[in-house]
Amino acid sequence: MSIFDKVPMAPADPILGLTAAFSSDPRKNKVNLGVGLYKGEDLLSPIMTCVKSAEGDLMRWEKSKEYSPIEGDHQFIGKTGELVFGSHFWGTEFERIAGFQTVGGTGALRIGAAFIKQEAENTVYISHPTWPNHRGVFHAAGLKVENYPYYDVGRHQLQFDMMIEYLTALPSGSVILLHASCHNPTGIDLNREQWLQVADLCQKRGLVPFFDCAYQGFGRGLTEDVQSIRLFAEKGMEMIVAFSLSKNFSLYGERVGALFIVTPSLDVSKKVTSRVKQVIRTLYSNPPIHGARIVAHVLSEHQLREVWERQLREMCERINAMRHHLVERLKQKSHSADFNHLDDCKGMFCYSGLSSEQVERIISEFGVYMTGDGRINVCGLNRENLDYVAESILAVKK
Ligand SMILES: Cc1ncc(COP(=O)(O)O)c(C=O)c1O
Repeated sequence: MSIFDKVPMAPADPILGLTAAFSSDPRKNKVNLGVGLYKGEDLLSPIMTCVKSAEGDLMRWEKSKEYSPIEGDHQFIGKTGELVFGSHFWGTEFERIAGFQTVGGTGALRIGAAFIKQEAENTVYISHPTWPNHRGVFHAAGLKVENYPYYDVGRHQLQFDMMIEYLTALPSGSVILLHASCHNPTGIDLNREQWLQVADLCQKRGLVPFFDCAYQGFGRGLTEDVQSIRLFAEKGMEMIVAFSLSKNFSLYGERVGALFIVTPSLDVSKKVTSRVKQVIRTLYSNPPIHGARIVAHVLSEHQLREVWERQLREMCERINAMRHHLVERLKQKSHSADFNHLDDCKGMFCYSGLSSEQVERIISEFGVYMTGDGRINVCGLNRENLDYVAESILAVKK
């Protein structure tokens, strides 16, 4: 008899569970379009050259592995703050921005959620659909979570008017989770005019924007992918930003992220900082040092930064090329325009258009893995498997 006898089994994580199933599949021609990792043509997640160089430098320079401050590495916070807000804005306004190094983007979301719960307990509104972990993270912090309309899956269309209508009716203080770019899972983002409309609405209705920025550099470019955040910032708005460097530095397992809370003044920012530090101290005390030092070093050294930006552009080009080739193959092989919507997507993800039954079939009959909603990560494609994947999709769609 164990004191843990009554512990029930939790369901497998919908995304990470898929990786386990893929790994144990013995088929040679299996393809993994499920998990959210960038992969090169060799289908491996690379260690970037600039990261390797920075690690070499750290090996030579590092004198100690002391604890970092509760809020994290200050050079890292400054450099990532510049990446998100732009060096001009950061340079002039940083005093009113509370910044923290976090355990990946998920850690930033979770600390932000705990802070909201601690201070105000407002409901958080997430897009429908969204990254499945959003609901879990905010729920785990004890917050109420609701969906706002975002995307019509059947018609492959943004539901912008419905989104605005829905947000307009929300009570002041509601927290609105927004994907800064490369919306996961749809790949469909708002355009500049639409972002301006959402910003106006948040200002008029007193809604709290909470940006999740996990794919900077994977969509249109380093600046373009944070245009949404910068538009809000330039309007003088308060907001929360969860930032992940897992993808754009390919540092997944090092758990590198940041949380920024834009406040109206230095005075408020100091109070916010003190309260968020309390949250961090009681959760994990202080963040890990290695990944943050790598990022801070790459962003500070001119040559390393150039190498990083070049490699990130190449990664983005591969993402766009793979999506484009898949669409071309699907169109050629089916003589149908059904797949045109995929051309407008940005980032690694898009909807294949397969139903959950078709997803079950493509996994069991063809060994092509994707999440149950039909989301695919185009980084799982390469020149060798493109035809096979296109043919498998069309076979289960018949
Ligand atoms: C939209 C979104 N937000 C946050 C994250 C979490 O990023 P991290 O791995 O840095 O925790 C992901 C990762 O897949 C994501 O897709």
